Amino acid sequence: MSIIKTQIWCLEPDSILLILKERDVFENYKLALFLPPKNSYAEKWEGFRTGVENGRILFHIENIQENWEAPFVIEEFGNRCKRVFYNTQRGYPYKDPVGSSPDVVRDKIRDLQSKKPFRSANELLHPLRTIKSESEISCLQRAASISGNAYREVMAKDFLEENQLATELEYRFKMGGCQRSAYVPVVAGGRNGLCIHYTANDDAFQQNDMVLVDAGGEYGGYVTDISRTWPTGRGFTPAQRDLYQAVLNVQKKCIDLCTSSAGLSLARIHYESAVLLKEELKQIGIYGSKSEIEDVLYPHSIGHEIGLEIHDCYSNNSFSPLKKNQIVTIEPGIYVPLNNRWPKWAQGIAIRIEDSVLVGEQEPFVLTKDTPKEVKEIQSLRESSEL
Ligand code: GLY
Ligand code: MN
Ligand code: MN
Repeated sequence: MSIIKTQIWCLEPDSILLILKERDVFENYKLALFLPPKNSYAEKWEGFRTGVENGRILFHIENIQENWEAPFVIEEFGNRCKRVFYNTQRGYPYKDPVGSSPDVVRDKIRDLQSKKPFRSANELLHPLRTIKSESEISCLQRAASISGNAYREVMAKDFLEENQLATELEYRFKMGGCQRSAYVPVVAGGRNGLCIHYTANDDAFQQNDMVLVDAGGEYGGYVTDISRTWPTGRGFTPAQRDLYQAVLNVQKKCIDLCTSSAGLSLARIHYESAVLLKEELKQIGIYGSKSEIEDVLYPHSIGHEIGLEIHDCYSNNSFSPLKKNQIVTIEPGIYVPLNNRWPKWAQGIAIRIEDSVLVGEQEPFVLTKDTPKEVKEIQSLRESSEL
């Protein structure tokens, strides 16, 4: 039986959960869940609604009401509390947190916001979501394994266009058991990869370029985040292989640092990655200062947490040492501009290698280990590739 069938999710649009914490002890709180009312007309057009009756059975919450009643309860809870923590949507704090709520709820919240100290609920939720439980890890592992197998399949095929590769990869995520893609895939042929979040995916591949792919599936609400770069031709050119191996060496060394016993933070691992990349590049004749490495050749960070969101728990301090059962990405890259400051042979090459990594006490565990990344393995998949 798949894990998803044993878990109960409330994913219904326009639902609201209120938690009123009365005193500083864990048990002392009141919960109220608001669900859209049953409505045979709306359900005929838009699909099934859980409704209050079913909700009580499924969610084990006594106080379940229809969502039009929410503003009254928000007012009541609001009058009784000292501080309000609020989130309606996933996303970054710079988005208006109230903006996406239905009008009447939004007005109530704005009213409360003007009267009470008001803070993001992420402050409370992100620390709770940082260390993953066994069942969370098994969802993350499943997303990683399904996605890794999909990568292996597409790496062994030739595609004429970026869009075809993207479509086949997403198809395989879903056919493998993922519910959806975790985010819009990046499928960037050749120099399109110089744009870090390239998602147009509408160009044709050129022979003997590389393709940079950043994509992953979602399983049971949990995501995986993978990047791989491979040749569009029958194998690596010497220039592609040298640069690829340099990034891979950095990536593997950084993965080794993902243990609680090492006691390093993501910020510190990022620092190490820039130093390591500078050294690796020197070995192959690319000389850049540390600031050129960090601002020009490798302008993003080594990684981030993953979980329910692709950039999970983003309000956590990136200077905190990694802890056992945190899950992070390790994703160094290189993006060599079309600029004669850099050797001609390297210009226009873009490479990112990203794995989803479970932090262990003494050893990290790479959840995405089924996704090919060694030069030999990729070379052999490409040598036997077919349309
Ligand atoms: N796929 C987004 C990222 O790697 O952060
Ligand atoms: Mn990532
Ligand atoms: Mn990614």
